Amino acid sequence: MSELSIRGVHLAHKFREGDDVAAITLDAIGVDLRDGDIVTITSKIVAKAEGRVIHAADREDAITAESVRTLATRSHARGLTRIVQTRHGLILAAAGVDASNTEDGTVVLLPEDSDASARAIRSHIQTHRGINVGVVITDTLGRAWRLGVTDHAIGCAGIQVIDDLTGETDAFGRELEMTMVAIADEFAAASELVRAKNSMTPIAVIRGASGWVTPHDGPGASALIRPEHEDMFSLGSREAMEHGAQQAVLQRRTVRTFEDSEVPRGVIERSIAAAITAPAPHHTQPWRFLIMERGVDDQRRTNLLDAMSKQWKFDLSAEGKPAKEIDRRIARGTILRTAPAIIFAFMDLTNAAHTYPEEGGRNVSERNMFLIAGGAAVENILVSLAAEGYGSAWISSSIFCPEVMRAELGLSHNVWALGAIAVGKPAGEASQRPQREISDFLL
Ligand SMILES: Cc1cc2nc3c(=O)[nH]c(=O)nc-3n(C[C@H](O)[C@H](O)[C@H](O)COP(=O)(O)O)c2cc1C
Repeated sequence: MSELSIRGVHLAHKFREGDDVAAITLDAIGVDLRDGDIVTITSKIVAKAEGRVIHAADREDAITAESVRTLATRSHARGLTRIVQTRHGLILAAAGVDASNTEDGTVVLLPEDSDASARAIRSHIQTHRGINVGVVITDTLGRAWRLGVTDHAIGCAGIQVIDDLTGETDAFGRELEMTMVAIADEFAAASELVRAKNSMTPIAVIRGASGWVTPHDGPGASALIRPEHEDMFSLGSREAMEHGAQQAVLQRRTVRTFEDSEVPRGVIERSIAAAITAPAPHHTQPWRFLIMERGVDDQRRTNLLDAMSKQWKFDLSAEGKPAKEIDRRIARGTILRTAPAIIFAFMDLTNAAHTYPEEGGRNVSERNMFLIAGGAAVENILVSLAAEGYGSAWISSSIFCPEVMRAELGLSHNVWALGAIAVGKPAGEASQRPQREISDFLL
């Protein structure tokens, strides 16, 4: 195929419910229709003939009724634009419910099943003219990323809708990866060039493309719909961000076994960046962190954890615990030794916490307040890590040996340990969180 002709077919008929769209179309085309031609028809006349016209007052309800999923919404001076998926799988604005080229006070829905409508028209032409043509029912759709609308094929019969070039070689002998040409959409768009809006030209005949016309109806335009699980853009960007924001907190789970892979420094730093946005008393910024990455800080990490273990052993034996139990409990702390990275968190109350004259009392409350705020910062770290697909476990041991932490790290007596966070790629799926009833938690 190196030359195509596209002829617009004028048709002034005002379609209404019950019209035989196939017969009227064929009549309008006239005798100049040949085997191998492709007939494109705007969905508008097919829909009107099928009685898919409703009162405009019901427009929003109609959009809702025609939609199975909302991908994006945007409000503007003229109202609300909804990008939705119809039950046919089409993704388009307002479910294709259109107020143009219809009587005042009415809107036109898309045909009930455009592939079926295309098959019926093709069959009519076959019966009455004895020729095999392709039929494409078109609708005008907007596009992500690019300005302007073009016509697309929403119903097809007797035409190859996709040319899958995947695996073929280009002019330089390189194999084409994932190259699928949307032939039916190209015919739809091309035919629109001779079917200008308001021109009473709802039909076009494409000649010279018989190579794409098939002896059978074929899969129809529904074969052009990308399966949702393969769609990299199945949500509008705002909806995707809202979804992500809602899910981030819920995705955090304590993960205690990690893959062997290292945690990129950027992941850790972004989690710290999230931590230092946490609320803190008196407009202070009391958070301090110590990052230890495997392969970078191994000796320092071992020394610190050894010192913490030694203190714990001492505390447990002072309590009179048997040696076996002490060993068992110490062994539980290995996650901090083996995790790909750990983050120790602290609150530095120097020049931050207010002081009161009496011992205890408000001074204790003041410290509690800062430690509670520290928890908010740690939670931000955990949520940030979870949002990036990293697992974490908040391990309490450093909270129980603040003096050891201060001595080993040279910190002032005003610095309080908040525990350590073990970080890594989760090994395996998190278990299902037990269902919790909000009412059980309300006082
Ligand atoms: C302050 C604090 C200290 C914690 N210390 C430990 C710890 O030492 N060892 C541990 O395995 N988990 C520790 N956890 C994690 C809890 O066990 C975990 O959050 C709890 O089992 C609920 O599971 P989830 O985080 O997956 O919802 C700690 C949690 C918090 C908030």
